[in-house]
Amino acid sequence: MSSRKNQKKTQKKAITPKKPAAASKEAVATSGEFERAGFAADFIFSRTKLRPQIALVLGSGLGAFAGEFTGATKIPYEEIPCFPRSTAIGHAGRLIIGKVGAVPVAAMQGRVHLYEGYSAKEVVFPIRVFARMGVKAVILTNAAGGIRREFTQGRLVVISDHINLQGVNPLTGPNDERFGLRFHDMTAAYDRRFREMAVGEGKRMGMGMDEGVYAALPGPSYETPAEIRYLRTIGADLVGMSTVPEVIAARHTGIRVLGISCVTNAAAGILDQPLNHVEVLETAERVKGQFIDLLKAVIPRIADAIA
Ligand code: HPA
Repeated sequence: MSSRKNQKKTQKKAITPKKPAAASKEAVATSGEFERAGFAADFIFSRTKLRPQIALVLGSGLGAFAGEFTGATKIPYEEIPCFPRSTAIGHAGRLIIGKVGAVPVAAMQGRVHLYEGYSAKEVVFPIRVFARMGVKAVILTNAAGGIRREFTQGRLVVISDHINLQGVNPLTGPNDERFGLRFHDMTAAYDRRFREMAVGEGKRMGMGMDEGVYAALPGPSYETPAEIRYLRTIGADLVGMSTVPEVIAARHTGIRVLGISCVTNAAAGILDQPLNHVEVLETAERVKGQFIDLLKAVIPRIADAIA
């Protein structure tokens, strides 16, 4: 064998990745967030050959989208080291890795929320795992109450910006520079290109797409009519109980963000009727087909944009 060939062979051997050793309980317990997210990422990679650069968080009622992925690997959250478990109704609690058309994606079928009792850090752990997996773009979906009067039940709205009224920030505490800067910019948290793509695709599909500002409250109680009047005054168009911690953590690590809300109900006090979670789930279910069509149109465009 020529020496060049020999060299090639040795090189190849040296870079072949080893199957990651399962992290010991002790290693997990004594590690920092960066290492813990790494253990989870290694575990996920040990279960699939796909290496997605786009991740999705599928909110209330939207989990079915992941059922359409081809070549899918399904991993219950409880199997992934350090991953939080989803307890909310309408949130299955599985990570699905598969393909949408030709694009590999990782999707959370359900997220965890502050109102379940999780800390903001726990809520964003999956985003940090995505960062350790090399994900470059995340699509965050949610159910929201419509504050702006045109945002009626069943409308899909692209999030242009947010107001954090949850009283917490997932980055409170010591900063790990391996994730990102101590003080990171949030002026364009929702990627302008992605927003244009989503609005454009939505319009093309006849959905009358628009953009709006999402206000996040801790929940789990819905808002009072007085709170909704206050939120309108401060510039909010939509209200919900999720997404904002994930956006903060994603931007901290440089992941680009698209956020889309499904308006499942008019916010409190706008109509003369009480709010309930069944209505939220029913509307999400009704709009699911449209929402999935929009995601299918947007994913290949995002894949091109990050390539
Ligand atoms: N308020 C808060 N969160 C929500 C709402 C709402 O009206 N609808 C769906 N999620």
